[in-house]
Amino acid sequence: MASVDPVKKKGVDAVFQDRLSRVAQDTEVLLDRLLGSRPIDGELARPTRLLEAMRYASLGGGKRLRPFLVVESATLFHVSRPSSLLVGAAVECVHCYSLAHDDLPAMDNDDLRRGRPTTHKAFDEATAILAGDGLLTLAFDILSRPETHPDAAVRLELVSALARSAGFGGMVGGQMLDLAAEGRFDALPPKLRDQDVKTLQAMKTGALLRFACVAGSILGKADQVQRAAFERYGSALGEAFQIADDLLDVEGDPATVGKATGKDAAAHKATLVGVLGPAAARRRLESLVIDAQAALNNFGSDADVLKAAARFVATRRT
Ligand code: IPE
Ligand code: IPE
Ligand code: MG
Ligand code: MG
Ligand code: MG
Repeated sequence: MASVDPVKKKGVDAVFQDRLSRVAQDTEVLLDRLLGSRPIDGELARPTRLLEAMRYASLGGGKRLRPFLVVESATLFHVSRPSSLLVGAAVECVHCYSLAHDDLPAMDNDDLRRGRPTTHKAFDEATAILAGDGLLTLAFDILSRPETHPDAAVRLELVSALARSAGFGGMVGGQMLDLAAEGRFDALPPKLRDQDVKTLQAMKTGALLRFACVAGSILGKADQVQRAAFERYGSALGEAFQIADDLLDVEGDPATVGKATGKDAAAHKATLVGVLGPAAARRRLESLVIDAQAALNNFGSDADVLKAAARFVATRRT
């Protein structure tokens, strides 16, 4: 009997939601295992308070969009699911570390994340800093493990690509620009234009999302043309993601979003919504969704669920 295409039967958005929640469940199980209490080879001990804070910051919440992007794109290159889930878990560790640090009083000073007290509220600031450090380091530990990929050259490429997207020329650099744009370091901060905000956001949010989109093609040793397609998809999706986040800050409901809203303008954050206004930001968002989807046209219907993910990024309420 011929198998029924689930996308045709259920509709692509329902299949996207199913696959996102399956990756979320698998990522939860995997992170729970990676964050066990027993030290592994080369470690001395896992201090209980630190481990609890790392688990708090990374388990039991979040959309898990980054692991989904890794797993779903890796499927196109016939990568095994355990392998892509490990890379997804590594990206999620970096993401969760970035949230724990982003929420600190010295940064965005937020009390609510994923519908719960932020890590420094549930523990204390020093523990939240160390929990973030622990998650960041764990990400590279995961990527270096042979079970992540049997070929050491592939693991090295993943390590290098994640380091460059998360580091001072990527996410961390973008966080620096984000704080600088608030004017906290200069009496008269330069007013950022459209293009400056775009660079800031491509760094603070886009770079890690782009890595998540490209990692599958690295794992699957895809050719340059295929990788370039995922780079274009990831760049457009990353830019769209932060515009949607900024719109949620203005228009979202804190109970649904799971974090405080209405804070960006008060903190003088540089956002495209602030520079262009919500209507123009929405138009930009729409054209980015179209760009992201177009980047994957050569993959035919195999990329339908990733195209639906691009639409989700723009329309999400959480
Ligand atoms: C929020 O990211 C922080 C930004 C990069 C804008 P997400 O919206 O993916 O947060 P979770 O993981 O679902 O909580
Ligand atoms: C956060 O951007 C980006 C990183 C954590 C790297 P935001 O500060 O806008 O994220 P939220 O709104 O607190 O989730
Ligand atoms: Mg921030
Ligand atoms: Mg923040
Ligand atoms: Mg935000």
